[in-house]
Amino acid sequence: MLKLNLIAIFCFLKLSNAYFAPNIFLNHGGGPYPVLREEHNIEIADSLKNISKIMDLEKLSAIVIVTAHREEDVVTITSSRQQSLVYDYYHFPPVSYTFKYNAPGDPELAKRIHNAFEAAGIKSQLDDQRGWDHGVFIPMMLINPKADIPVIQISILKNQDAKQHYDIGKALFQFRKEGVAIFGSGMSYHNMAEFDKVERNLKNVEVNIVNHDFDNFLNDVCTGEVENRQKILLWEQQKGGYESHPLGEADHLMPLIVNAGAAGTRPGRKYFESVFLYKFLLSGFIWDDDE
Ligand SMILES: *[C@@H]1O[C@H](CO)[C@@H](O)[C@H](O)[C@H]1NC(C)=O
Repeated sequence: MLKLNLIAIFCFLKLSNAYFAPNIFLNHGGGPYPVLREEHNIEIADSLKNISKIMDLEKLSAIVIVTAHREEDVVTITSSRQQSLVYDYYHFPPVSYTFKYNAPGDPELAKRIHNAFEAAGIKSQLDDQRGWDHGVFIPMMLINPKADIPVIQISILKNQDAKQHYDIGKALFQFRKEGVAIFGSGMSYHNMAEFDKVERNLKNVEVNIVNHDFDNFLNDVCTGEVENRQKILLWEQQKGGYESHPLGEADHLMPLIVNAGAAGTRPGRKYFESVFLYKFLLSGFIWDDDE
């Protein structure tokens, strides 16, 4: 009897000690550039390094990271214990193809996430073959260079359907209660054609922000009244929506929509703002209030 009571007390302590883990949207920058400290990616790199100052990494039991760089027909969850890396960027300095990130995976948690998706009517699959892409290992090298917290990569969907990504986030929310952080890895502004235009003409660019409207919209839905959060599903109707994320190329917005779904009952706050390439406002949001 005493033994049973002790077990009960132990379980209670363990449950009550569980850390309600944050949900955060990361701007991951251009390919390997944040790790290389390329000049236009330095603020991004510093904000990723600073994540350990705004959350207690040691309290996390795992990190689930939703990456803009893997698009699938069904949500795909990495499920092996050890993970290789996929260097899915081209024409960068050779060192970019030697990066390592040796954090463990978590096959049991991957399975439970798979089950949670199934229970929510979301099709998903486990993948113990392919490695993590740069939407995972570039931010993680900066956020937690010790690589001692298990990581699970989750893909976005090829259809870029806002509601489905929101529902993925809703299904992930419950895991925050056991110390699993949700990281969305994308960019709040991501228009490759516009990036290219600036990069081709870097000497003659003047600071001139082009995406105030859409950035304000994201700020309102992420940090404003919780009742308004679902307005993120209407992103395509917002001023500057398609300029910020061209139709069919909104892969970098999808992780933020997952974050919005995983946000719970409190408003988020902006923890990062930066002007990228003189013209493009980037915003990072975090939801870390206890429920
Ligand atoms: C990172 O943290 C340092 C020290 O707290 C601060 O000075 C700096 O502005 C932060 N940088 C970014 C980009 O968040």
